[in-house]
Amino acid sequence: MLIIHQQITRGGDLNGAELRLIKKKITGLLTDSKVMDCYDYPQYWDLAFRDSTREEANFVDAVSLKFLRGRARRIFEPGCGGGRLVVELARRGYDVTAIDLSQPAISYLKKRLRRNQLDANVRAADMLEFTCHPPVDIAINTVNTFRHLLTESQALTHLKLVASGLKKGGFYILGFHLLPPDAALEDRECWTQKHAGISVHMTLDAFHANRRKRTETLRFRMQVKGGQTTREFTTDYQMRIYTAAQVKTLFSKAPQFELVEVYDFFYDIDEPQPLDDRLGDAVFLLRRV
Ligand SMILES: C[S@@+](CC[C@H](N)C(=O)[O-])C[C@H]1O[C@@H](n2cnc3c(N)ncnc32)[C@H](O)[C@@H]1O
Repeated sequence: MLIIHQQITRGGDLNGAELRLIKKKITGLLTDSKVMDCYDYPQYWDLAFRDSTREEANFVDAVSLKFLRGRARRIFEPGCGGGRLVVELARRGYDVTAIDLSQPAISYLKKRLRRNQLDANVRAADMLEFTCHPPVDIAINTVNTFRHLLTESQALTHLKLVASGLKKGGFYILGFHLLPPDAALEDRECWTQKHAGISVHMTLDAFHANRRKRTETLRFRMQVKGGQTTREFTTDYQMRIYTAAQVKTLFSKAPQFELVEVYDFFYDIDEPQPLDDRLGDAVFLLRRV
């Protein structure tokens, strides 16, 4: 088994990608002592999450139909990763803008769009700096990307930037896990996805939750098998944690948005959920006011 495990310690000349990884580590995006970023291997990440893609894209269609009379044309995805959703939305005829901090993920996405003869406006950028111009109809951000923003000030900055790049009456679909007050502080999820002779076994461990500091560690472990080879990628990410009450407090400080509905990860537009401590997987539908 080949274990990909790069160390900062080797010194010498560092290339741009290495410097970027170190910057992410210093700024707290990566918490592991290993300099390894699963997000820089989007082909495997996207494969692991491919089952969610159609549901998310269907939800964009459903929001457009139910709340915008089917008129949504321009979509923005911050933290798009390898672009599984970007590709699906572009295929459905939307005009998509997408950004990610990971240059390898963006390069991969550009190639993928070209291969599929699709077009989208994608670039490496920070969701703490980028805003869409001209404004879009719907922004979508799922799978906990928002929890990478570790402070309230960062979360509010991001909401403000998304709001300024949304048309009035447009929507921000924001999905992430909540940690209810009585929930276990450690959790593990595992699943395997196979496609085109490659299998990815994903193990997702949540631990080191600190309710006072509002952080936890999420460890992603991807075991990738293809032919005779097995590769393993592990990264720890620090994430902000939210209870239902903390989400309400956050949104109350973002007057650019009103919370219209809350859903769970089943993405059923006709089944909104109450925002309380029974909800673990939350999708917030925020309207730009
Ligand atoms: C949980 S992954 C989700 C990827 C993709 N949206 C998906 O659903 O498959 C989080 C992504 O957010 C990106 N990311 C983290 N912090 C970011 C930031 N400040 N600005 C832009 N992208 C960021 C990471 O590089 C990573 O690709």
